[in-house]
Amino acid sequence: MADGRFTGQVVLITGAASGFGAEAARRFAAEGARLVLSDLDPIADPPIDVLDHPADVSDADQMAALHEAALDRFGQIDVAINNAGIGHDLAPLTDIPVEAFDRMMAVNARGVFLGMKHQLPGMIARKSGVILNVSSAAGLLGASHLSAYAASKHAVVGLTRAAADEVARAGVRVNAVCPSFAATPLFNEMADDIATKRGMDRETAYTHIAARIPMRRVARVEEVVQAMVWACDPANSFMTGQTISIDGGLTAV
Ligand SMILES: NC(=O)c1ccc[n+]([C@@H]2O[C@H](COP(=O)([O-])OP(=O)(O)OC[C@H]3O[C@@H](n4cnc5c(N)ncnc54)[C@H](O)[C@@H]3O)[C@@H](O)[C@H]2O)c1
Repeated sequence: MADGRFTGQVVLITGAASGFGAEAARRFAAEGARLVLSDLDPIADPPIDVLDHPADVSDADQMAALHEAALDRFGQIDVAINNAGIGHDLAPLTDIPVEAFDRMMAVNARGVFLGMKHQLPGMIARKSGVILNVSSAAGLLGASHLSAYAASKHAVVGLTRAAADEVARAGVRVNAVCPSFAATPLFNEMADDIATKRGMDRETAYTHIAARIPMRRVARVEEVVQAMVWACDPANSFMTGQTISIDGGLTAV
């Protein structure tokens, strides 16, 4: 087993097949964690000694089964990263289909609610544990043409703050990360959508998006994930209820 800040700890990650979730799995494994990985489908080539349990985070029964399987296998969950999420095509609010709004709320907001509902009881009983929810800069700011996504990510911030207050006295920490743009498949889909709508190629769309960021670039996945790992570090023991922006300065201006 690798030695590190999370040696022996059980870390559960949703949306672990791609992007931030897949990189977080690699980083926590390298720091000694035992992993429970989940996504819609089985993870390709999961490392040995990892529980890979597919689940749709918006489905209450599947989320109950995921957490039951995690407790059966490892006995407890020390760190939970509620990361699974989806975006939608850019459109003015008036053009967003009701079904797209409902799906955003079901996956991005309900998924985090269901995750914490199952993760918190064991942590409260043991008086120890860390939850990190993946929100977005769109959880803090109005995000033009992404209103349904923004609503779902603001909901993640609300859930995080309320839960943090409820469980602080039990010694359980709950925080959220709020990345702006990072080069994951989800982001590439959005860049392609912008490119198609504005008749540009993906590289030009990237430059167009980066122009909104004070650092004039989008994040590398590792830059976001190192902050996610730091937020969960046992040494980071007094930080709770926070929204941690990793956004190249977007929300500072
Ligand atoms: N990439 C960015 O620029 C960015 C910025 C801010 C926030 N985020 C958030 O980061 C999180 C991770 O996104 P990413 O960029 O790594 O995207 P990604 O598409 O690379 O990964 C998301 C993963 O979630 C899984 N998933 C989707 N719906 C699911 C469901 N119902 N149940 C279980 N798993 C499901 C997907 O299969 C995928 O593996 C999301 O919550 C996203 O909203 C991303």
